[in-house]
Amino acid sequence: YGRKPFISGNWKLNPQTKEEALTLASGIASSINENSPDVDVALFVPYVFIETAISAVGGKLAVGAEGVCPHNSGAFTGGISTSMVKSIGVNWVLAGHSERREIFGETNDYINAQCLKIIDDGMSVMLCIGESLDEFELDLAGSVCEVQLKKGLMGIRKEELDRVAIAYEPIWAIGTGKVATPEIAQSVHAKCRAILADMYDQEAADEVRILYGGSVTPESVDDLMNQPDIDGALVGGASLDKDKFGRIINFKT
Ligand code: G3H
Repeated sequence: YGRKPFISGNWKLNPQTKEEALTLASGIASSINENSPDVDVALFVPYVFIETAISAVGGKLAVGAEGVCPHNSGAFTGGISTSMVKSIGVNWVLAGHSERREIFGETNDYINAQCLKIIDDGMSVMLCIGESLDEFELDLAGSVCEVQLKKGLMGIRKEELDRVAIAYEPIWAIGTGKVATPEIAQSVHAKCRAILADMYDQEAADEVRILYGGSVTPESVDDLMNQPDIDGALVGGASLDKDKFGRIINFKT
């Protein structure tokens, strides 16, 4: 369907200094060369490093925010608004990461408010979804993703979907070294695409990029990227190593 592959990194609460952020971002950018696949690359980084990373990558990749507050302005101590990140050159913003859901208590309603705010302000959102180990073992991956997709994207119109990407991240595979097999990931991605077709239509669903996240490494990326409904990767740990993430960007199909 001509979906352009999308490799993204999520630095989470790393690295700890501006100097390290600069070195890592420029090292990653230098792994993109004329032999690289035709791929979109984005790095989601802590707010304080966004401008440093943007200047380090020289336009070779996008630098995104790991989240935003869904409110415009006012008394929300610690919040960061869409206008703030937009004003320093951000286009992509993450929403719904399982760590935000689990550790910070973000609900589907709150995540939906973030998605709407990001889209209304003209930016692009990567909505993360995924089931826990218990849910996976009870064969509930599809239904958990259905609820998270339907609630997360509520109110987003079909014509806005070109600014939406989905990251399917089974929680049991995040940071555990336990990558979902390409077959498991493919089957959930296909289900997610069917859910999007049900919510919008098949044509719209065929255009949305669905990325896989959860212990993606240089060793696992090629087989994942060879699956028909896996359009990219959202990489945590390996995005903190320029050589590993560089190899992931230069995946082979
Ligand atoms: O956002 C990224 C995911 O949480 C995956 O993290 O690659 O360290 O498992 P990980």
